[in-house]
Amino acid sequence: MRICNVVGARPNFMKMAPVVAELARRGLDQVLIHTGQHYDARMSEVFFDELGMPRPDLNLEVGSDTHARQTAAVMVAFEDACKRYRPELVLVGGDVNSTMAVTLVAVKLGIAVGHVESGLRSFDRAMPEEINRVVTDHLADLLFLTEESARRNLLREGVPENRMHMVGNTMLDSLHQHLESALQRAPWGQFDLEACGYALLTLHRPSNVDDLGVLGVLLETIQEATAGFPVLFPVHPRTRERIAAAGIELAGHVRLCEPLSYVTFLGLMAKARFILTDSGGIQEETTALQVPCLTLRENTERPATIDCGTNRLVGTRPEAVREAIQTVLGGRWPSGGTPPLWDGRAAVRVVDVVERWMETVR
Ligand code: UD1
Repeated sequence: MRICNVVGARPNFMKMAPVVAELARRGLDQVLIHTGQHYDARMSEVFFDELGMPRPDLNLEVGSDTHARQTAAVMVAFEDACKRYRPELVLVGGDVNSTMAVTLVAVKLGIAVGHVESGLRSFDRAMPEEINRVVTDHLADLLFLTEESARRNLLREGVPENRMHMVGNTMLDSLHQHLESALQRAPWGQFDLEACGYALLTLHRPSNVDDLGVLGVLLETIQEATAGFPVLFPVHPRTRERIAAAGIELAGHVRLCEPLSYVTFLGLMAKARFILTDSGGIQEETTALQVPCLTLRENTERPATIDCGTNRLVGTRPEAVREAIQTVLGGRWPSGGTPPLWDGRAAVRVVDVVERWMETVR
């Protein structure tokens, strides 16, 4: 029985690498397909190297385009790939366009789908990822959950409970596996920073970066409020384009750099005083690392990081951002714990479920 794992964009790699490794450890027949949604070496290849993932058996090379064109390109190419590799189960992760496109194709070909990181909801349909999550979850057969809110969301939407499997968070399997080497690398030294003497900033959500006015005000506020405290800002290609288009100049203590590799960024996160971000995954990684996370969004699909962890929804209003930065720099950020099953063994539980499923369909 053959399993086809699909990855497409940066946040997929750290979620799927532990699953691919566990399937290999148990000697199961698998292929790995990369849709090519992310294609720059810094957004893709470097993650394969550092996470120890095998080279993909096939790259669909779809690249960037509008949502419809990108989704359609993945669908057309993945249909051919399914005919070639004839999998019985397709495993996808997260909420990117590739995740939804692949799921639609597989179910129409009668192939079962397993969704790693299922059930998360921001309740914000302006986020492309929210659409991808809803579609994927309603079509997939095996739903792998990271936190309890996911079960509640899916039950509310009428998804049968027997499809749900609480396994924990595979992304944190990667974190646990690589943290020690990340710290040994002491990546802050590379940027002339001291451990705990800097903040990290990441921004790439369309709602924050596509409107040049919003982006300008946000960066200006961060620059002012950090008042000389060093901020390292690895810039997503989409954001870099917008910063250039808006002609935004940043002060010396807010330093831009290229997107960083997984292990380098992990080391930097672990020793950051705090992190400003609109990413989903970073909210979870900072919770595991117990580093203050100031989320520059009005909502989160990962409420466990707030209920239990170090994450707070700050939003993007200048006063709120300013106040949160002052609070964290003043050392007054609440400490946090880690949700159950974010223990580095989630991929083992995913593959346990997959093996049980294989017994039932054999
Ligand atoms: C995608 C995901 C988002 C995820 C993010 C992580 C969707 C809808 N969004 O957003 O959920 O958090 O990845 O990065 O799937 N580009 C490059 N090189 C690359 C890839 C992209 O230069 O390797 C540039 C292109 O100009 C492209 C833009 O980035 O148009 C956006 O890329 P895209 O894959 O459409 O979405 P992301 O913003 O990366």
